[in-house]
Amino acid sequence: MMFIINLNLKDFNEFHTYPILNTNAEIMFLALLICLLLLCFLMNKRTSCKVYLIDFACYKPLTSQMCTRELAVKETIRSGYFSEETLDFMKKTMERSGLGDKTYLPDIFFRPKYDPSMKDARQEVEMTIFGSIDTLLAKTGVRCEDIGILIVNCCIYNTSPSVTSLIVNRYKFKKSIITYNLVGMGCSAGLLAIGLAKQLLQVHRNSYAMIVSTEIITENCYTGNDRSKFLINCLFRMGGAAILLSNRTSDHKTAKYLLLHTIHTNTSSSDRSYNSIIREEDNAGIVGITINKHLISAAIATIRPNVATVGNLILPIHEKMIYMIIHMLRKLFPAMKLRPYVPNYSTAVDHFLPHVGGRPVLDELQKTLGFSDENMEASRMTFYRYGNTSSSSIWYELAYVEAKRRVRKGNRVWQIAFGSGFKCQSVIWHAMETVDRDDKNPWTDEIAAFPVDLTDLQPFPEFFESLN
Ligand SMILES: *[C@@H]1O[C@H](CO)[C@@H](O)[C@H](O)[C@H]1NC(C)=O
Ligand SMILES: *[C@@H]1O[C@H](CO)[C@@H](O)[C@H](O)[C@H]1NC(C)=O
Ligand SMILES: *[C@@H]1O[C@H](CO)[C@@H](O)[C@H](O)[C@H]1NC(C)=O
Ligand SMILES: *[C@@H]1O[C@H](CO)[C@@H](O)[C@H](O)[C@H]1NC(C)=O
Repeated sequence: MMFIINLNLKDFNEFHTYPILNTNAEIMFLALLICLLLLCFLMNKRTSCKVYLIDFACYKPLTSQMCTRELAVKETIRSGYFSEETLDFMKKTMERSGLGDKTYLPDIFFRPKYDPSMKDARQEVEMTIFGSIDTLLAKTGVRCEDIGILIVNCCIYNTSPSVTSLIVNRYKFKKSIITYNLVGMGCSAGLLAIGLAKQLLQVHRNSYAMIVSTEIITENCYTGNDRSKFLINCLFRMGGAAILLSNRTSDHKTAKYLLLHTIHTNTSSSDRSYNSIIREEDNAGIVGITINKHLISAAIATIRPNVATVGNLILPIHEKMIYMIIHMLRKLFPAMKLRPYVPNYSTAVDHFLPHVGGRPVLDELQKTLGFSDENMEASRMTFYRYGNTSSSSIWYELAYVEAKRRVRKGNRVWQIAFGSGFKCQSVIWHAMETVDRDDKNPWTDEIAAFPVDLTDLQPFPEFFESLN
């Protein structure tokens, strides 16, 4: 390019009266034009592969469904299903896990008898799912007919026609909508759905993808006395989120986040991992979800490669270099007994949002990745305020940091979720703008009361041992 220009300038000076000049100028002009077009084309290609998060909404249940820990225990006693010992365990678990007094339960738990019908479950579906979709549509102003892809993930609750059909029917989405209903895929399926949406957006042009992440707990209460199944009763609460993604280039101005990476890992091929969270009957034939003592080791084995891949993708070069050098030294001189170097992940991410994975897992993650208490705050506060809402919890966490006005333009956000399978998923976002809180954020009117001090909690009770 430079060469042509120089040549032309020279020509211009020397032969400016000759006709050849015109041709040269024309050629130059043409070359420039082609270059420009090529550049436009390339840039367009680059931007059109991008996936944006336009906005998301988290459902905030009615105040009438709020349930203190004390009330939860009272209702559980009243149901008459449980032994003294189980109730005692419930009290301890709720207290020590860091669960607060304002979580929400579906209507069924406030009735004299726990005897859920399909109608009750559907009522919860309508509240959480329609509630979050309505908020999302109001927030983004997107029209239902523009939504081309719908993905719902809900682990245990399943019905027919599927929840996706229920949504399409209610909102009268267009006939050509592509729907996926992910069932049984655990708490990490919400981020799996982001990965799926990303792939779908690459083949279906010009449309929006809506993702709904939730768990419907009405029918999920375990009514036996096996401790390893009872944990779910103590910690699971009502909640849901709806997320809108798009890859329209025109949306980059209004989008909140740009999707940078999705990383999926799983260790389902290992029996230990597979069995660590499993739905099965207890000795008395009552169905529940067993969480066994291999959970922590399965979690570590699955989370580690995921975190390593994330590090590879996002860590700055100096962190990688130190890691490489120490790694090599360890290999070459084992006698030196060097400790493996753990890169400082906060050099590459501004907001770390791990799934409300229970205190032992979170403490372990914080320690190994070197995150500060402030980095972990969103996860702990979400659990305190909303309980374990399964796959939607990471969205309450993102809403938390937004409500705290901590998300600045250019910040990187790392959501990481893990659950049965065992599976672990990470998603990295780039904030397009500094995000302010809005009145549809579930935290907005109470954010000043957070963070709550949870430092003097007693150790977590041993819940893995089965009573039978
Ligand atoms: C969405 O992405 C795909 C693949 O990257 C691209 O072909 C398509 O044109 C994009 N859609 C829009 C509206 O840019
Ligand atoms: C399982 O892990 C592999 C890589 O280890 C990944 O390619 C695949 O997408 C994962 N599947 C799920 C369901 O997470
Ligand atoms: C990690 O990096 C962050 C940001 O650069 C810094 O504030 C923090 O002190 C570092 N932590 C350690 C343990 O080096
Ligand atoms: C929430 O549920 C998931 C999936 O069942 C589990 O992995 C996680 O440990 C739970 N969190 C707490 C705090 O119990």
